[in-house]
Amino acid sequence: MRNLLICTVMGLGLLAPSAQAEPVFEQAKVMAGEMLFKAECRRCHAPDTTHDSYGPPLENIVGRAAGIVEDYDYSIALEASGIVWTEAALRAWMEDNDGFMPGTKMRHVGIEDRTVQDFILAYLNSISDAEKNKQIDN
Ligand code: HEC
Repeated sequence: MRNLLICTVMGLGLLAPSAQAEPVFEQAKVMAGEMLFKAECRRCHAPDTTHDSYGPPLENIVGRAAGIVEDYDYSIALEASGIVWTEAALRAWMEDNDGFMPGTKMRHVGIEDRTVQDFILAYLNSISDAEKNKQIDN
């Protein structure tokens, strides 16, 4: 009985830190993603519409229809693509934007490392609002 008690306490002890670590892990991914975004994307993209940028602002990008930022002068290829920026589409775009959608104005970025993609996606998710995108109805 005593052993069982010790095992239970130890078991809980093992579970507790990992349960706590989960949000910290997500937060760490978002922070790493923000650093990578600054290094790889920020020189052309603002994360929100309050800053000017050469490329379209990426606020709310996950789940957003392509080419819909008002007043941004998109290429015909992007504007007419009819795609929605799902995580899979964003991965393909980061990996090989020219191959994924030929004829756009975005210079090739070529991020093939899946972990780097994961981090950038975690950050892009943190500045996105799926509910808002549903309301826009793409
Ligand atoms: C050298 C500048 C530059 C860099 C670096 C760059 N982009 Fe872009 N990006 C652009 C331009 C310009 C466009 C608009 C392309 C068009 O209209 O054809 C664009 C378009 C996009 C779009 C489509 C947006 C929409 O409204 O449909 C996404 C998504 C995107 N970029 C993601 C990224 C991500 C993520 C990174 C970093 C990994 C990145 N870009 C790096 C210049 C850049």
